[in-house]
Amino acid sequence: MLRPASSREDVGHSVLARRNFFSYMSKDQLQTRLQIRHYSSNSSQENCRTLYHGRVPEYLHFHQETSVETQDAVSSSFVVLRDFVTEEEEETLLREVEPHLKRLHYEHDHWDDAIHGFRETERSKWGKASSKILARLQEYAFPNQGEKLALMHILDLAKTGVIKPHVDSIRFCGNTICGLCLLSDAVMRLVNVEDKTQVVDIMLWRRSLYLMKDAARYNYTHEVLGEKESYFGSVPVPRERRISIMCRNYPRKEDAT
Ligand code: OGA
Ligand code: MN
Repeated sequence: MLRPASSREDVGHSVLARRNFFSYMSKDQLQTRLQIRHYSSNSSQENCRTLYHGRVPEYLHFHQETSVETQDAVSSSFVVLRDFVTEEEEETLLREVEPHLKRLHYEHDHWDDAIHGFRETERSKWGKASSKILARLQEYAFPNQGEKLALMHILDLAKTGVIKPHVDSIRFCGNTICGLCLLSDAVMRLVNVEDKTQVVDIMLWRRSLYLMKDAARYNYTHEVLGEKESYFGSVPVPRERRISIMCRNYPRKEDAT
């Protein structure tokens, strides 16, 4: 998984291996397959305490039935930083990833696949200007040097594309997933894996950075809503082609085996 990506097939495999689909699995199957770990809101709150402050952030929309526990758990384990990159920085990054993406075809795969209408690649080497931007992202998301994976995952979702509910594999990545959203606003939805009435929508603005860790990462599926469903509360969020640059950390040793 940490080998350099040498061919398209390798790339696809290593990236896709990080996702697990279980929207159609029973709770028992889920528990066995993912060994879901539960985080109390206290411990995850500790992680994000500098940003949470006990207030509901503007980027969260709780569906009607969400409990206080869900609200606490997600508020303290999911952060969105608006305008993390400037328009110029967005352009710099796009200029660098576009030539690689352009060589690939959008995949519109089978009904049970995680993502429809996408192409993706991985990169570990970046030009000087991009490296500077991405170093800032990594310093924020992974303050402990060395824990982050070297390869960044670049996902290009077509305007009509959709990311279906999944939890990233615990074998291939650790407790933190961060993503930079480029080219389009989008809505990410979290649904509790054990109680599907617990639903939280997240506003991912163009040029924002999101950080999903602990409870949000393990106890909730995440998805990116398709064009027709793309609402934040009652507000429509028009979906254009969207590129995300994602960075993850190493799994814990016992999860990786
Ligand atoms: C993924 C994923 C979210 C995003 O690739 O596993 O959930 O922001 N992507 O593109
Ligand atoms: Mn994912």
